[in-house]
Amino acid sequence: MNLVVQKNTALDVKTLLKNTLSIVSNHSGSISILDMLQNMREYDDSTYTHSLNVALICNILAGWLKLPKEDVELATACGLFHDIGKMLIPYSIIAKPGRLSEEEFATVKKHPALGYELLQSQDVDVHVKNAALMHHERSDGSGYPAKLKGNQIDPYARMVAIADVYDAMTAARCYRGPLCPFCVIEMFETEGFQKYDVSILLPFLENVVNSCLQNRCLLNDGRKVTIIYINKEKLSRPVVQYGEEYINLADQPDLKIEKLL
Ligand SMILES: [Fe+2]
Ligand SMILES: [Fe+2]
Repeated sequence: MNLVVQKNTALDVKTLLKNTLSIVSNHSGSISILDMLQNMREYDDSTYTHSLNVALICNILAGWLKLPKEDVELATACGLFHDIGKMLIPYSIIAKPGRLSEEEFATVKKHPALGYELLQSQDVDVHVKNAALMHHERSDGSGYPAKLKGNQIDPYARMVAIADVYDAMTAARCYRGPLCPFCVIEMFETEGFQKYDVSILLPFLENVVNSCLQNRCLLNDGRKVTIIYINKEKLSRPVVQYGEEYINLADQPDLKIEKLL
């Protein structure tokens, strides 16, 4: 959408909607996906928006991983329903502005198991169920609910985990504004490689950063620059151009990209 609005890129609706539409039509006989989505929207609009975002990110990510068409659609469905269990958490907690108390957080942490139970009676792929159950597990065993490690975690749940965190961090919260994609990439570079599947995380980060090439952005010293070269070793710190000057952010620890323009 950004490319269309800002750079007048041709809008290819067919390609954009191809996978998304086939998910809905493929399952029309078995599960009323539109009904479930409508219920989610009525319950909490921000969970609904987040679910759609994670579905789209999973769709793009699966494409970057060069998965076959059916697996791209499956990854999209996994993203769409990963937080379905939140509909069974009291609304007062789900919609609470600001930070949660320890007790409230413990309640929210039940949503993976609740979502899994909810999907158990539905005729959906086992990976969709596993993604709902396991998307908060982390490769180093630091996640929940079962502290699973590495390969014990369903591969689709590993994909959803990355898309989920990326969307949650780039979204605005009432206690902070949206984080710039480069801050999120920096977080993934610092602590991500223990917690997430590297064979998914690396292509994800590389492609996100590559899609920012030639983008204008704002540095923390107020300068407006253009991203012109990606440092493979330090994806969050590309080379940028300011007028005639080239600034390699990998060599400038005090400088960072604050937001994309
Ligand atoms: Fe979740
Ligand atoms: Fe989520």
